[in-house]
Amino acid sequence: PVQVTKICCIGAGYVGGPTCAVIALKCPHIQVTIVDLSQPRIDAWNSEDFELPIYEPGLVDVVKGCRGRNLFFSTDVDKGIKEADLIFVSVNTPTKKSGVGAGYAADLNYVELATRQIASVAESSKIVVEKSTVPCRTAESMRTILEANSKPGCRFDILSNPEFLAEGTAISDLFTPDRVLIGSLQTQEGKDACQSLAEVYSNWVPRERILTVGLWSSELSKLAANAMLAQRISSVNALSAICEATGANIDEVAGAVGFDSRVGPKFLKASVGFGGSCFQKDILNLVYLSESLHLPEVAAYWRQVVDLNEYQKRRFGKRIVDTMFNTITGKRIAVLGFAFKADTGDTRESAAITLIRDFLSERARINVYDPKVPESQIWLDLEEARPDIKLDAIQKQVSICQSAMEACADAEAIVIATEWKEFKEIDWEAVYANMKKPAFVFDGRLLLDAAALTKIGFKVTTIGRPSHIV
Ligand code: NAI
Repeated sequence: PVQVTKICCIGAGYVGGPTCAVIALKCPHIQVTIVDLSQPRIDAWNSEDFELPIYEPGLVDVVKGCRGRNLFFSTDVDKGIKEADLIFVSVNTPTKKSGVGAGYAADLNYVELATRQIASVAESSKIVVEKSTVPCRTAESMRTILEANSKPGCRFDILSNPEFLAEGTAISDLFTPDRVLIGSLQTQEGKDACQSLAEVYSNWVPRERILTVGLWSSELSKLAANAMLAQRISSVNALSAICEATGANIDEVAGAVGFDSRVGPKFLKASVGFGGSCFQKDILNLVYLSESLHLPEVAAYWRQVVDLNEYQKRRFGKRIVDTMFNTITGKRIAVLGFAFKADTGDTRESAAITLIRDFLSERARINVYDPKVPESQIWLDLEEARPDIKLDAIQKQVSICQSAMEACADAEAIVIATEWKEFKEIDWEAVYANMKKPAFVFDGRLLLDAAALTKIGFKVTTIGRPSHIV
């Protein structure tokens, strides 16, 4: 097996950035260069004051520990490719917006362009690693492209090494992963390439957590893992609707179910619905794959996980309107949290966007506060969510605030859309004093102490519990 000394990562996003920064930190003998087409993104990674393009707890310290030593960020993609013996492809693979498979299939254009660039630039043999989440058998297309375009004497071994980090806990997930999965062809060359990459991880990951499997199993495992995680959330959210109608309490039900060691307690928190760039996209990808394989029942099964999530978001929005005497027109609503979950600034597929989109249609006035999402990102997302109206019309209805206190002032309702810890620590007595009465709180994340808020005087509505009963 080749001893890896230089790594290039194509794509300096949420995955490529943290993953390869941690490799650089843990492997001081390996030079790691992370490249991206986006100049602003690379500039931010290189910024003197460490204003990195993504927020992730602990990330700044990792970058501080090795940037300029054996970790480099650059827009010179060709140079990065030429120098490396191992290349991670960590570019975005969003859901296709048009053409065949629109709305379901993964858009592999970025993966293909990166692959073609590797083929045309490489002057020596490379190990090419799929880090992006891709449909099953993408490695085969990559190999065909690489072999058809390579220079004489260059061979390419392709590995699948999907990333299982979760945003918000990326650094601790990377430091102590549950497992690292590496898929390769079961040829001698494939197994050797697999060993080379396993060697890199073994600098800090125990060998028994480095799983080596076939290429197609590896690709499918990533889709399967995300589908099963999201399915747990949709299952518990489906039960939350039953709780609201019966008087059962979803936290108690989930707790009781999770005590079963076969089920386990994690990932059983009811909420306004899952978000993030991956769950929905990867399940739709699995649905598309199932349909392409003529397995309509399988496709329908997984599609329901996404459908239920949409239902949950809509249902929560409707419950808010119903509770506020069937109209929120002209009413001021404070939306606390805009990121798709706590401890990240990422807003992709955030439930907050769906809620605010619906509040806009109801002609409410909306105050938004999020501790990490930049103002410009909020406007971009709302503009995209409501392509039918102009941004200045949206800005007449929506204000972005600098604190939770400011967002709640004079509001008639507060909606918890993201489970930021700081929302637990708000001075709720003071907030109550500044609100119109009755003062409503809608907890979409089961974050707050409903009994304490009710005691102050709030009318509290929580996912998975009947209205106003504590
Ligand atoms: P991202 O959008 O944050 O980053 C992708 C980056 O690739 C962008 O900065 C883009 O400019 C760059 N890029 C695209 N084509 C390029 C090219 N030809 N040359 C150089 N740079 C190029 O995406 P993110 O979130 O990092 O996701 C990347 C992949 O990882 C996706 O396939 C995703 O499904 C997967 N993934 C994401 C996770 C997450 O939590 N965000 C977790 C696990 C996997």
